[in-house]
Amino acid sequence: MDTGLLDEGFKLRKATPEDNRVIAGLVVEGFVDKFRPVFRGRLDRAADVMERWVALEHSIGGVTSLIVEHETDGGLSAPLASIGVRTGHSDDEALSRKLWGTLREQLGLFPALRSATLLSHPRYNPIKTEAYVERLVVTNDYKRRGLARSLLYEAEALGRGADKSSIGLHVSGINHEALTLYETEGYEEISRQSSWLTGYALGIRDWIYLKKSL
Ligand SMILES: CC(C)(COP(=O)(O)OP(=O)(O)OC[C@H]1O[C@@H](n2cnc3c(N)ncnc32)[C@H](O)[C@@H]1OP(=O)(O)O)[C@@H](O)C(=O)NCCC(=O)NCCS
Repeated sequence: MDTGLLDEGFKLRKATPEDNRVIAGLVVEGFVDKFRPVFRGRLDRAADVMERWVALEHSIGGVTSLIVEHETDGGLSAPLASIGVRTGHSDDEALSRKLWGTLREQLGLFPALRSATLLSHPRYNPIKTEAYVERLVVTNDYKRRGLARSLLYEAEALGRGADKSSIGLHVSGINHEALTLYETEGYEEISRQSSWLTGYALGIRDWIYLKKSL
């Protein structure tokens, strides 16, 4: 896979099941401010739950993940950036059930209840004609080199390839880097969800739903 946007030896490809653990690590790193309070500082558990979640999304969630690696003299690096894009049918009920099972197993009943409630934001009701972007992350040392933009373009291409007429995503109202990226790429605000609970626990009150026509 080559978007033509990446230079300096970066390679973009579809993720395989062997990449799930690394993707989980990237997601925990990228959203550490969210995961730390959700998992009460236990980032090892956050990575375990996220690995399972990524695997479930691939198997029953209609999601494809893309990753970027860097080609060096020593071969390809570990993945440095990743995105998930939902273009297929998702069995949302099974996904929620299995996520709940994983949280319970990892955390015990009451912490699992708290984490599940916090992780349920933002809420998205899938639209048949829409591709949906999730968990776009770039590792800290490789930010501002165009990796996120390249992944977003490729996600849009996947959406077009699946005959979707739009692509949507959610971003927190305090994520100015990501908002700038999406706005410069033509995504427009459709609606906002507000949650006093995530405002209190995560410092994120508003979740913005953005969309772009494909
Ligand atoms: C947001 C994020 C994915 C951007 O990744 P990136 O690879 O650094 O972004 P790019 O280099 O492709 O930048 C594309 C554009 O985004 C905007 N942008 C990215 N980082 C920015 C920053 N720190 N400040 C201002 N604008 C920024 C700019 O418009 C930039 O274009 P430019 O470099 O031509 O000015 C990355 O910072 C990240 O992983 N953050 C943590 C996880 C996250 O918030 N993901 C988004 C979830 S919705």
